[in-house]
Amino acid sequence: MAVHSFAVTTRVLSGSGAVAEIGPTLAAQGHKGVLVVTDQGIVSAGLLPPVTQSLQDSDVGFAVYDEVEADPEESIVAAVVAAYRSADCDGLLAVGGGSSLDVAKAAGVVISNGGTVADYEGFDAFDRDLPPLYAVPTTVGTGSEVTFAAVITLPSQQFKMSILSTRLAPRVAFLDPTMLTTLPPHVVAHTGMDALTHAVEGMTSPLSTPFTNAFNLHAIRLISENLRAAVANSSDMDAIGNMQAAACIAGVGFAHSRLGIVHAMAHPVGAYHHLPHGLSNALLLPHCLDFNRIGCEPQLAVVAREFDATFPGQSERERALAAIEAIRDLESEIGMPASMGEIGVTDEHFEAIVKDTFRSRNVAINPRRVTEDDILQILYRAL
Ligand SMILES: NC(=O)c1ccc[n+]([C@@H]2O[C@H](COP(=O)([O-])OP(=O)(O)OC[C@H]3O[C@@H](n4cnc5c(N)ncnc54)[C@H](O)[C@@H]3O)[C@@H](O)[C@H]2O)c1
Ligand SMILES: [Fe+2]
Repeated sequence: MAVHSFAVTTRVLSGSGAVAEIGPTLAAQGHKGVLVVTDQGIVSAGLLPPVTQSLQDSDVGFAVYDEVEADPEESIVAAVVAAYRSADCDGLLAVGGGSSLDVAKAAGVVISNGGTVADYEGFDAFDRDLPPLYAVPTTVGTGSEVTFAAVITLPSQQFKMSILSTRLAPRVAFLDPTMLTTLPPHVVAHTGMDALTHAVEGMTSPLSTPFTNAFNLHAIRLISENLRAAVANSSDMDAIGNMQAAACIAGVGFAHSRLGIVHAMAHPVGAYHHLPHGLSNALLLPHCLDFNRIGCEPQLAVVAREFDATFPGQSERERALAAIEAIRDLESEIGMPASMGEIGVTDEHFEAIVKDTFRSRNVAINPRRVTEDDILQILYRAL
């Protein structure tokens, strides 16, 4: 058996009121001025004032960069680096979904190491540590507030590249459910499906361990119990708070277990068709599980328990099938489209998507060995 490392390197402050802890926490770390990295959706939802108020109350200075866009491109990272330098900051505070958090992570790498973001694709491809980084997640998906990844789009290649290193994990994550009540239902649904995909791919990964399972399995339980209610009403504080926890818990799990072909395919599908990341995952997840099942029946049988989708006497195979069925049910109830064709995707880019799928390090750890032809067939089934 191989030796696995497991460490939650981010301190997580969670609960209503966590945002008020930002100022005191950063002041205690000696920060004089940080760059707040966010997007226009966060600004118009009115989510910045509680953050900046907390900084002001603790005499921590700040500048704001609020032009992050979904599926952020390398030019946005360069703009954040420039803003950080011109305001002479000593730390980064990301407020938003995975897009804002990942931009802050990637900018941190470039601030400390120079060059451009494309220089740092892959695992541990940089020398110097990032400036101190803090995260306030406002979606219920990526877990980027605790993960070792940043995903940035290279428009010249229509490619979503990943920077990977344990040193990308933020120092502190502030999980405050009061920051989530402005989430529209479709963003809860998409990002919640991203979190579920992390946890399920994490469970079926050959790199899973009892430690990663503890996190990924509990995330699946929280999502199966809370995602419907959170989509129905993001002001349901129990449901949305549990989804916020689930996304972060799955982040801890999958940062260690890594993922599989759903994410390897979802990145190029999203890059070519400009679909939200969680939606790409949702469209692919059941079809990839149909394909992977014979390579991970015992793990899927365990997943079924978290969906309450078993009854005594079922075989492992039946339980594994029940897990996939439970995921299909959940997706249909929260309004996920039944196929890529339903939202206008065609097979035009399939060849390129297959090629880009194999650029992901997650293909090699998929529970079932996979060929280019297999990926093409899964794409056609999802179409
Ligand atoms: N780093 C990782 O480990 C990791 C893992 C999975 C995905 N990703 C990446 O993260 C990105 C997706 O992040 P995401 O799914 O969190 O979405 P996002 O950050 O792109 O945000 C989606 C939209 O929701 C809005 N929004 C966010 N919070 C809101 C709130 N509380 N109220 C109202 N509106 C709000 C944003 O303004 C934006 O318009 C993708 O680029 C994906 O590839 C990263
Ligand atoms: Fe994801």
